[in-house]
Amino acid sequence: MAGKIPQAFIDQVLNQTDIVDLINEYVELKSKGKEYIACCPFHGEKTPSFTVSPEKQFYHCFGCGAHGTAINFLMEHEGLQFIEAIETLASRLGLGVVTESGNYQKNDSHHQLYLAMDAASQFFQQQLRDNPEAISYLKSRGITGEIANRFNIGYAPQGYGNIKKRLTETFTQEILVSAGLLSKKSEDKVYDRFRHRIMFPIKDARGRVIAFGGRSMDDSMPKYMNSPETELFHKGSTLYGIYEARQFLGKLKQLIIVEGYMDVIALAQHNFANCIATLGTATTTQNVKNLLRFTSDLIFCFDGDRAGKDAAWKALQQILPEFKDGINIRFAFMPQGEDPDSLIRSLGDSAFNEYLNEAAPLSEYFFNNLVKDIDMETADGRAKLANTAKPLLAKLPKTVFRDLMYKELNERVGTSIPVSPSISPAGISATSKPQNQSSRSLKYTKTRLAIALLIRDPKLGHHALSIEQLSHLKSVPGIDLFLQLLEIIEEEPNISAIALVERFHGDSSYSALQKLLLWDPPDMDNRELSFKQTMQRFKEDIRRIELDTLIQSEN
Ligand code: UTP
Ligand code: MN
Repeated sequence: MAGKIPQAFIDQVLNQTDIVDLINEYVELKSKGKEYIACCPFHGEKTPSFTVSPEKQFYHCFGCGAHGTAINFLMEHEGLQFIEAIETLASRLGLGVVTESGNYQKNDSHHQLYLAMDAASQFFQQQLRDNPEAISYLKSRGITGEIANRFNIGYAPQGYGNIKKRLTETFTQEILVSAGLLSKKSEDKVYDRFRHRIMFPIKDARGRVIAFGGRSMDDSMPKYMNSPETELFHKGSTLYGIYEARQFLGKLKQLIIVEGYMDVIALAQHNFANCIATLGTATTTQNVKNLLRFTSDLIFCFDGDRAGKDAAWKALQQILPEFKDGINIRFAFMPQGEDPDSLIRSLGDSAFNEYLNEAAPLSEYFFNNLVKDIDMETADGRAKLANTAKPLLAKLPKTVFRDLMYKELNERVGTSIPVSPSISPAGISATSKPQNQSSRSLKYTKTRLAIALLIRDPKLGHHALSIEQLSHLKSVPGIDLFLQLLEIIEEEPNISAIALVERFHGDSSYSALQKLLLWDPPDMDNRELSFKQTMQRFKEDIRRIELDTLIQSEN
């Protein structure tokens, strides 16, 4: 996808964006020395530890370790994809997005897909107003007009050619098929996918319709028919209701994760507007990542039956690798035979609230679920617990929480199991999650210093040794990355520091570069001098290598 927008355009957007202005639109920044500070928008705090540096065009929170560029900010804070973040920045600057072919985005097929989905949604909503049967179905399910409007619920009429007729006036058939609105059996057999169904538009975090779920109003199967995977819709990474929740509540303190469309809607109607659904699929790691972008307090709500319990345990396994200190994850189980929709309608808000209050913290649910079929009085039982728990706990990143979980396991088992070794400190090419502390304590090396200087000030590239000279050092860790940076600067001498770093977005070196931006070794004051000295030291290394080769060849 990234390839569709020319690199030069991305550079231009980044060059013209001021991260201070951008972030100030979301949190109020106060100036402090050379930087700006605020209470961190990524974790709850009362005293500000979130800083934005105009010089580095970078933010960093000393509390939770969140850090990054303007792009990262939009991705993390607004839950956007890379391209969407670029589009957002471009539109703030009044620039239209240009695609590789030089067309404005208006002609882009992606954009056509969004327009088609939006037109379909309008059509379904209008059809609902004219269809008493559909209206009475919604009424029978207790849905008010206000909620139907908030979620833009619609109705797809009977018949095979409604959408087709209406939307081919504006869109090509090909677009409507790619959007999943029409099904195509053969060249001459193309017809409406959704017929005689209540339509739930599924929106992305920015409110654009990316898919539909259509519910039958009788017993016809399937109960729900959903859009297929399309260029816009990836089921495993979609959270139904996230846009509506954020529209209604602004910043989300907590999110309740349920299974179905109707659960989200019923809960919203009963003043739990902070609900989203994973659309009946198992919770994915991508879901968990997305959820944690919006809030650090999650309650997963499952049905009380066997299937619900299995789904909860599967979800837990997806959560473990994403766990961070400071997040709060709990599991709530509905009573047998109820889902959140039926429960809140039959027993009311306070009953549902009680179930939420009784939700088990992840640690409690973890151990209770593991020991429930084990006789902990026997040594065999305790060994079994240790054996099943250990591989699961090994999925946890190095956190205080992980240490506590091992401690608890030791106490329950009555032995001392060594806590698995810490994640090794990040090197230049580390791809592990950047952690605030590790960047502060990065080991000083010449290569790191050279890269750190260059990404603060790409103009220093003038003083670099030639690429040919540096290639003698290719066995030195990090030199590859330094060379890649120099090549980009050579092609694009006016590139800004941040555009340079963003060239590596999605690359395994990206997090290392971010760490190096945060790194503050003593030699940063006179950058030009430090850079020249480092080049001098590289030169000495090269001489040494050349001498060694010479000596070896003479032997
Ligand atoms: P449920 O069967 O629990 O449906 O499936 P529900 O949400 O309670 O809906 P109502 O109350 O019967 O109307 C949970 C979710 O699983 C997906 C849907 O996203 C649904 O909301 N699902 C279910 C499908 O995609 N297809 C189906 O046929 C059934
Ligand atoms: Mn239901």
